[in-house]
Amino acid sequence: MKTGRADTGEAQNRAGQPLSDALVVFGFSGDLAHKKVIPALYAMVKSGALAVPVIGVASSKWSTAQWHRHVRESIEQSGALDEAVFDRLVSLITYVSGDYRDAQTFAHLKAALGDAQRPAHYLAIPPSLFANVIRSLGDSGLAEGARVIVEKPFGRDLASARELNAIAQSVFPEASIFRIDHFLGKDAIMNILYFRFANSFLEPIWNRNHVASVQVTMSEAFGIGARGAFYESAGCLRDVVENHLFQIVALLAMEPPAYQSFEAVHHAKASVLRAMQALSRDDLLRGQYDGYRNEKNVAADSDVETYCAVRLGIDSWRWGGVPWYLRAGKKLPTTALEVRVQLRAPPQHLFDDAGPDAGHTNYLRFRLQPGSTIALAARIKQPGKAFRGEQRELCLHEEASGEDPTYERLLASAMAGDDALYTSQEAVEAAWAVVDPVLVDHHAALPYAPGTWGPREADALIAADGGWHNPS
Ligand code: BG6
Repeated sequence: MKTGRADTGEAQNRAGQPLSDALVVFGFSGDLAHKKVIPALYAMVKSGALAVPVIGVASSKWSTAQWHRHVRESIEQSGALDEAVFDRLVSLITYVSGDYRDAQTFAHLKAALGDAQRPAHYLAIPPSLFANVIRSLGDSGLAEGARVIVEKPFGRDLASARELNAIAQSVFPEASIFRIDHFLGKDAIMNILYFRFANSFLEPIWNRNHVASVQVTMSEAFGIGARGAFYESAGCLRDVVENHLFQIVALLAMEPPAYQSFEAVHHAKASVLRAMQALSRDDLLRGQYDGYRNEKNVAADSDVETYCAVRLGIDSWRWGGVPWYLRAGKKLPTTALEVRVQLRAPPQHLFDDAGPDAGHTNYLRFRLQPGSTIALAARIKQPGKAFRGEQRELCLHEEASGEDPTYERLLASAMAGDDALYTSQEAVEAAWAVVDPVLVDHHAALPYAPGTWGPREADALIAADGGWHNPS
């Protein structure tokens, strides 16, 4: 499929996009770089996907030996380290230390970039610094011919997302702005798009006539760890629902793209996000795990949610009247990401255990993490004279490989000018518009015990549609 970006340069990939000739990583000493970005760079060097200079920018003032130790530790924590690949990686990296608010830092960066003409600037930094760094890139002449890759969260509500978009677009052309939602680079999530539109059997049932409700659960068994300060400014709704879970809903609910291009995919996704009804306070249930207020950098009287359950409506011809239930939370019983599309029951009471009131309707289950499963639950007759049956799953399953190529994939795509795995301004703003009303007007967060499925009150939200199905 074609990307939606215009052809602009000389050194090009197969899709005719110019290749970035350097990668600048802002936030090189940060948590994200340590956990995801440095291992991704290592994997890219190993596979031959990265051979251009990398400039690591950070506020930490470390010696080269300290930087090398940092890079080595990060790689070792994510898997085995091959010395030859490590040497190749560190030979590509130059380090620039300095304050992101100081023009000198950008002068040093310019010197480090040497004769690179088309760098990709990746902002793996706290969101409060995005606008500043983007403006400084413009002021120091480092935006010319360049791309910018912006980590999530892109804004913290609709107004700030619009403002950040305006700043980014005043410095970079839209075709050079890449907004990350890393869930879009995960195999099982990419497969939603593929599975929906590479098969024709699904389309006839993929609508309000056959789908009764949809539920999406993102459960994490761990807490907020050392991210107290970030979490206090975000909360679960902003951290994973408005972006990651909405992207999953958009892929499941979008109309078929109008033509063969990712430009059309982006458009179809943004359209369905625009068709989502804005949430009101009774559509959202917020929870907070016991002990959250004792975490580091968390206020003693914090009302920030570590769990939320949401009821969504999509006002479209296809989905009118179908409720979408989303929930996400920290310190739940297991770490899993699962979608369940509940199908309607047969209209006739031919068999007692499979009629409209039997409560055993068929469903489609997408296990998105860990591993990848698509299961279709269907009823079959049990052996014996009686017409009595049971529900069984027809299953397509891929084991988790233990490797996570997401960031590798995302960075390589942006450096090649390919926006297929990125999200558009229209989609980002449409998603914020849905949650905007409840960011300020919401019920207080209800307590729940770690290791449980969140506050009991969340059951009432979905009671009319058969209750939550907890992933195992
Ligand atoms: C991040 C959130 O965007 O996604 C985290 O900030 C969350 O709170 C994480 O844990 C989940 O992503 P993954 O890829 O680890 O499942």
